Amino acid sequence: MLNCPGNDQVSQSRGVSSAGALNLVLASRSDTEALGKTIGGALAGGEILALIGDLGVGKTTLIRGIAAGLGVPSDTVSSPTFVLIHEYRGRLPLIHVDLYRLRTGAEAQSIGLEDYLIGRTITAVEWADRFPALLPEDRLEVRLSHRNLTMRRARLVAHGPQSHALLTRIKLARGANRRQSTALRQTNRSGRRKARRR
Ligand SMILES: Nc1ncnc2c1ncn2[C@@H]1O[C@H](COP(=O)(O)OP(=O)(O)OP(=O)(O)O)[C@@H](O)[C@H]1O
Ligand SMILES: [Mg+2]
Repeated sequence: MLNCPGNDQVSQSRGVSSAGALNLVLASRSDTEALGKTIGGALAGGEILALIGDLGVGKTTLIRGIAAGLGVPSDTVSSPTFVLIHEYRGRLPLIHVDLYRLRTGAEAQSIGLEDYLIGRTITAVEWADRFPALLPEDRLEVRLSHRNLTMRRARLVAHGPQSHALLTRIKLARGANRRQSTALRQTNRSGRRKARRR
């Protein structure tokens, strides 16, 4: 999973993003799941995740990762195409909503989403751009786009203080993961060198 530069980014040694945004390239499905897992681990309770992107871009895949990061068995997460709202029980309650099939504002209102937007419940909404007024303003927007068959771009933008705090934790967790895998690679390399010398 690579950080990539974007217009509104400040330059940092690793080319990471500005305070309120993060741009990534996800090379494979497992990268998308890993990003979801990092997001899931960084959730504190009550956050809203607004997922935006074309058909088949990986929104459900990302939510599967988020669920895994919350300790929900990932094979229980499926696309809520027929049931509009799925509820999962993990470290925090997770609501998974898909607005794709809804046609009118009245239809969207009728699903009663506001009843779920309480307390520590996490709400992850696919096709959030179809009915933006349905969600509170403080939301972490996750825009996914196709780069090729298996590569995706992800752009995370925080709108509001709760989402900014979440994005900061996501960046910190990604930094820690990167340091851990670098250390692991170095340990493995020196182990192989020692074994060759013996
Ligand atoms: N880098 C990637 N990230 C996510 N999915 C990927 C990636 N590369 C390939 N895929 C494949 O793309 C498909 C994404 O399906 P998924 O159901 O997650 O998309 P979606 O955005 O939820 O679709 P829909 O708009 O129909 O709800 C899966 O078959 C997955 O294996
Ligand atoms: Mg989906």
